[in-house]
Amino acid sequence: MRDLTSDTITEAVIAAMQDTKDARTAKILESLVRHAHSFVREVGLTEQEWAQGVDFLTRTGQKCTPTRQEFILLSDVLGITMLVDALNNQRSAEATQNSVLGPFFRDDRPHHPDAADISEGLPGTPMFFEGQVVDHAGAPVAGASVDVWHSDAEGHYDMDVPGLVDPAMRGLFRTDESGHFSFRSIRPASYPIPGDGPVGEYMSATGRSLMRPAHVHLLIDAPGFQRVTSMLFPSTDEYLDADPVFGVKQSLVAAFDSYEAGDGPHSGLTDEAYTVLRRTFVLEPSPAG
Ligand code: BEZ
Ligand code: FE
Repeated sequence: MRDLTSDTITEAVIAAMQDTKDARTAKILESLVRHAHSFVREVGLTEQEWAQGVDFLTRTGQKCTPTRQEFILLSDVLGITMLVDALNNQRSAEATQNSVLGPFFRDDRPHHPDAADISEGLPGTPMFFEGQVVDHAGAPVAGASVDVWHSDAEGHYDMDVPGLVDPAMRGLFRTDESGHFSFRSIRPASYPIPGDGPVGEYMSATGRSLMRPAHVHLLIDAPGFQRVTSMLFPSTDEYLDADPVFGVKQSLVAAFDSYEAGDGPHSGLTDEAYTVLRRTFVLEPSPAG
């Protein structure tokens, strides 16, 4: 293993890993080295460019805190998060599809009874959400846990709303015997992904927009079924075709029906104009289930 050249170094590195015990680890590392070396050769990477790349990755790590995961954000904007999801969660056409989890889920969220108002009094257009969770045959899935979280009318999650201490616009629901759950909140707005770190530099260098279309996140779990990590987007959103994290699927684009004050199915519950979102979620059986 001496006098290696640009033609022989790849095989030498792979040979150096020959005692890797775990076969899957060996396969992944060999492929990683081959692709990384090919990339370096293909672009003819200069020493200065490699130093820049190392600096970028170093700063990406340094930006991470218990509440900020810049590497996952990098994976999101490079399409790796959705690629890994697509490879690992192939579902039948009728099943509810996944999207990205994103950084704003909190496991210290409150548990709510059906029909709760989760807006905590924040200003915005009232939104009534009516969901049902079913299996492939359309049979209700009772007792499913349904996490929801979304931004406010300015595009802020609760942790970023000035002066707000307690969780809001989020919570855990459980479906009833007919698979239903419902809540009242405020209509979310589109918002930018965090742009004040290395990912923001990459986005501006490549001329990409930080704006995500508005959405309501849902995470649905029930024994015997695959977990659904998803979100619903209003069909009128201007950013549907430019999502920086590639999370939009047509099946997740939904009508947010609008009603005038005093009109429509929830007029007795609000004296303002409001929106209603109704959705049935179809769960895919888990491989073992
Ligand atoms: C979100 O929807 O909360 C989100 C997803 C990926 C990156 C940033 C935000
Ligand atoms: Fe989000």
